Amino acid sequence: MRVLVTGGAGYIGSHTLLELMAQGHEVCVLDNYTNATPEVLTRVRALSNGAVTDYVGDVRDPAKLDEVMQNFQPEAVIHFAGLKAVGESTQKPLYYYDVNVGGTLALLHAMDRAGCKRLIFSSSATVYGDPVYLPYDEAHPTTPTSVYGRTKLIAEQMLQDWAAAQPGASAVLLRYFNPVGAHSSGRIGEDPKDIPNNLMPFIAQVAVGKRAALSVFGDDYDTPDGTGKRDYIHVVDLARAHVAALNYAQTNTGARPFNIGTGDSYSVRDMVAAFERASGVTIPTQLAPRRAGDIAAMQADATRAKAELGWDAKHSLDEMTASTWAWQSANPDGYDS
Ligand code: NAD
Ligand code: UFG
Repeated sequence: MRVLVTGGAGYIGSHTLLELMAQGHEVCVLDNYTNATPEVLTRVRALSNGAVTDYVGDVRDPAKLDEVMQNFQPEAVIHFAGLKAVGESTQKPLYYYDVNVGGTLALLHAMDRAGCKRLIFSSSATVYGDPVYLPYDEAHPTTPTSVYGRTKLIAEQMLQDWAAAQPGASAVLLRYFNPVGAHSSGRIGEDPKDIPNNLMPFIAQVAVGKRAALSVFGDDYDTPDGTGKRDYIHVVDLARAHVAALNYAQTNTGARPFNIGTGDSYSVRDMVAAFERASGVTIPTQLAPRRAGDIAAMQADATRAKAELGWDAKHSLDEMTASTWAWQSANPDGYDS
């Protein structure tokens, strides 16, 4: 299929491009590079020997969207372009609504104008909010606790309404748990622009000496070692889920959410220990207060993705940490290395 990938130069998008091309799909990227660099696509092209058409532009720009749609004629869109920092979303709510909700709306209008009816959407486990029960299944109540989570839920609802009103339309809503890891080549990976918000890139930067110590945000949670537990998923498994979702969208209409996680969960201390195993480097840690808005634990029930998409996670925790280390140690300054 011809697949337009918005935000394709980002962390998850770049890994997904490689999986799409490996399965014979033709890809085109639209990215405004607010959180990426063109070097990403240079490396993706080198790794795939494939053609990646790309446009520099904003997903909120109708004229740019029309230009891309007319030139590339996509049969499906994978919509990664968006903002993802939970803390920042509370400080800049309108910016988050503009990009995450407004961007999705502008994209749907452009798809309608072009007659494109398949969309795979980057949603998030944060749409669930405080767990009423765990693991979360897709029927769990959705009461997000952050602006970021609300932008994802509103976009999901918009897609549900769009798919219901458009005969033949298909919207696959992928609720990602915690993506970590890097491509096996060590050439592409996660490259946060500022101080990393997330655990794994922070640990990786401590390991290469860019940061002195990891702050462990609380050790008095109701978990076996007191630190927060999450369902970490290898980014290549997550990328594969998009290929499975595309296949699903060819034969199914309507909108459907899917949890994309492993069903396992690991604590902060488990992640530090696994990273030390992979790297042979000791990670200094210091105890810090709980981070506002954090929950003790979260975990996916990914039964639906296996049953309906034919997808499940294949990579182990050790593969997640080893690939992160391979990427970070070869590229200590990320794509500027
Ligand atoms: P990322 O920041 O690496 O990638 C997003 C890409 O979108 C970047 O290349 C950025 O330059 C681009 N972009 C941002 N705003 C844009 C705009 N207005 N127009 C065009 N391009 C724009 O993030 P990622 O980790 O690859 O996440 C991809 C998607 O998955 C996001 O929508 C994010 O909310 C969602 N998600 C991420 C996580 C995670 O932990 N990484 C978890 C759940 C959901
Ligand atoms: N943590 C630390 N120190 C750090 C960073 C994180 O102890 O420096 C802890 C957190 O308190 C939490 C765990 O590590 O217990 C994981 O935190 P992350 O920030 O890596 O991940 P979150 O679960 O908070 O959120 C992430 C993304 C969201 C996404 C969500 C999906 O930031 O965008 O996963 O589950 F939606």
